[in-house]
Amino acid sequence: MLADAPVLLQCREVVKHFDISGGFLDQLRFQAGRPRRVRTLVRAVNGVSFDVRQGETLSVVGESGCGKSTLARTILNLYPADGGEIRYRNQRIDNLSPKAMLPYRVKMQMVFQDPYASLNPRMTVSRILEEPVCYHHPGLSRAEVRERVAQVMCQVGMDPTWADNFPHEFSGGQRQRISIARALVVDPEFIVADEPISALDVSIQAQILNLLMDAQETRNLTYLFISHDLSVVEHISDRVAVMYLGSLCELAPVEQLFAAPRHPYTRALLSAIPRLGAGPGPKDRIRLSGELPSPLHLPSGCVFHGRCPHARARCRQEIPKPVQLSATAQVSCLGVEEGWL
Ligand SMILES: Nc1ncnc2c1ncn2[C@@H]1O[C@H](COP(=O)(O)OP(=O)(O)OP(=O)(O)O)[C@@H](O)[C@H]1O
Ligand SMILES: [Mg+2]
Repeated sequence: MLADAPVLLQCREVVKHFDISGGFLDQLRFQAGRPRRVRTLVRAVNGVSFDVRQGETLSVVGESGCGKSTLARTILNLYPADGGEIRYRNQRIDNLSPKAMLPYRVKMQMVFQDPYASLNPRMTVSRILEEPVCYHHPGLSRAEVRERVAQVMCQVGMDPTWADNFPHEFSGGQRQRISIARALVVDPEFIVADEPISALDVSIQAQILNLLMDAQETRNLTYLFISHDLSVVEHISDRVAVMYLGSLCELAPVEQLFAAPRHPYTRALLSAIPRLGAGPGPKDRIRLSGELPSPLHLPSGCVFHGRCPHARARCRQEIPKPVQLSATAQVSCLGVEEGWL
């Protein structure tokens, strides 16, 4: 059972802000006739807390710009966190130097959205796949490295005789297979897949999803899967986390979240999924009014209050804390906390 699986990754109040103030002169503002230095921050991730359990697929959904990729990269220490704690197997990793992070780099891999930009065009497939093995497993002989690469190429459905070709000689789907092979070849435990299928043709998407699911089963992998596509998320996830403007609104097992969403934003998001046959029709869609606020100027209190049809006075003042609904579900909403939603 998922609830009994050990926790692999813990995020506590993770914060990531980007300073886009520019140079000293760009930062100067005149207030009451006096020059003042003002920093401009993009508040991409603001205090996100959740656990990922071993063997599960946790999907992160939310509209464009809500901070999904930033959260993923901060978890992998590709961006330094500005606050909070990230633990992997109960070891704190957010404050590690690049050298101390190396053992975790083998265990935690990433598959990127764009298979055209994420592969070095000057390297052949065999170099792309051999380099991380040689780097992380220096004890392996040349023959062992080649064997491991050939094995992984077969697993991702690529003929090992193509190993001497360059990425531009492959289609998008095949390139994404190479990206997945590059992640798998070092024998990881945890893979962050940031929209791994959204740049691909629909017919190829299913193949890549199946490949990821098969790899999970054979290698007992844990996934943090980022996607816009709620029907894919419903199909592949164990649990789903919903983000809005850098905050985590709700996290719940997939059936529970789709059957009975608690957070008003999750309800609005799910009501927008087109369904065939019986089920909610266009009349039942929840239409959110108001503009999506900018992460440059976060609203006070609950970040969703300006668009929430149920918001009350307290929502405008107080940032909701995550309420633990069960061992595997949490929601950050004052209405749920106080029992009026
Ligand atoms: N390197 C950066 N410098 C400044 N701002 C950034 C940087 N990277 C991301 N941002 C900003 O942080 C916010 C979150 O971006 P992020 O890419 O994490 O969103 P996302 O949820 O992954 O969006 P999408 O679904 O479009 O990929 C956005 O407002 C974005 O403009
Ligand atoms: Mg993104």
